[in-house]
Amino acid sequence: MQSTLVLIKPDGVKRNLIGEVISRFEKKGLKITAMKMLKMSKELAEEHYAEHVGKSFYGELISYITSGPVVAMVIEGREAVGVVRKLVGATDPVDAAPGTIRGDLSMDEPANTIHASDSVETAKREIKRFFPGYWNKKRVSIESLQRKIEKLEKENGLLKKRTEWYESQSQQMEGLIEQYNQLVKKEFDNIENVIEKMGTREVIDPITRVYSRDHMLNYINFFHSKAFQEDIQYSFIFVDVDDFEKATSGLSREQSDVILREMGKLLKETVRVPLDTVSRLGANEFLILLTEIPKKDAISVAKRINKTCAAKEFTVDGKTVQLTCTTSVIHFPEDETELSKLLENGEKLLEMGKKDGKNKVMFIK
Ligand code: PPS
Repeated sequence: MQSTLVLIKPDGVKRNLIGEVISRFEKKGLKITAMKMLKMSKELAEEHYAEHVGKSFYGELISYITSGPVVAMVIEGREAVGVVRKLVGATDPVDAAPGTIRGDLSMDEPANTIHASDSVETAKREIKRFFPGYWNKKRVSIESLQRKIEKLEKENGLLKKRTEWYESQSQQMEGLIEQYNQLVKKEFDNIENVIEKMGTREVIDPITRVYSRDHMLNYINFFHSKAFQEDIQYSFIFVDVDDFEKATSGLSREQSDVILREMGKLLKETVRVPLDTVSRLGANEFLILLTEIPKKDAISVAKRINKTCAAKEFTVDGKTVQLTCTTSVIHFPEDETELSKLLENGEKLLEMGKKDGKNKVMFIK
């Protein structure tokens, strides 16, 4: 990229040709990078035309160039020095080719409208003469600005692409997180179901809400060993609801279940929960473990169960059911010391009681 100095001489300014001259350079694609209007002093004119001292036209040239304002400008472009000289045309306007500035706009010397540096070296000197700070300034050329804009646009494009990529990634991530949350929730639901099933099957009877048969059998195995080792006396009370099907014949299955639940509640309220344990052995049969209790007290509890049951009005959906129970009491260690025999004897006593009638309390005398 070259820079060159151009002066629009006093006749060009006087004849309002500043715009005309500038437009020729701009239309060519050159850039005006500095410009000012000034009236050249004699000293400046003499310095500028120093190499022509002694020539016949020197005096006339100095007085002409200082006769009125000139416009000085720096023009920048590829091979600007040569290109500008071609646009300016031959020194003598009479010889200047048509289409050149001098060829089109002037007729005389030294009023040949325009001056342009004749070489790169001259241009440097002349630019410094008219624009002393020109080379010191860190100039930001339009081209470099354009380059910067292009670079920024490119970066902006990249940034846009990157943002789009991040957005798509984040959308995918959100989708994955959602899927993951759903999986976790499903897994939790499964676990809860399993726990619930395990709990109700193995520990709590879902209908009566007392302990299940499985749980009770496990527990009494453990408890019997402990009682055996530590000389703890205890009793089992077997409870069977008399003629339950008959008593609840007018009820639906769900309503019968409500009655059984009431029965479980009654048993829990009659014993010393949590010291004693109530469980459901079968359809209408319950087994109660009374810990650390003398046999006579266990019999009293059984009697109380029968009495309470017979006295209670079981109601569901406005329907009332009257129930009685048959109970059997078996005591450790007074009646038996082996667990299987305790249970066996308890069952036998219960069967005997049921054969005997209703609302019986059975025990070994
Ligand atoms: S150039 O353009 O520098 O190569 O021209 P050059 O022939 O060397 O002339 C130098 C400047 O003197 C001007 N000149 C004249 N002025 C008046 N009368 C006559 N006969 C004459 N001949 C040359 C010429 O226009 C140059 O001025 P600038 O300002 O550089 O154009």
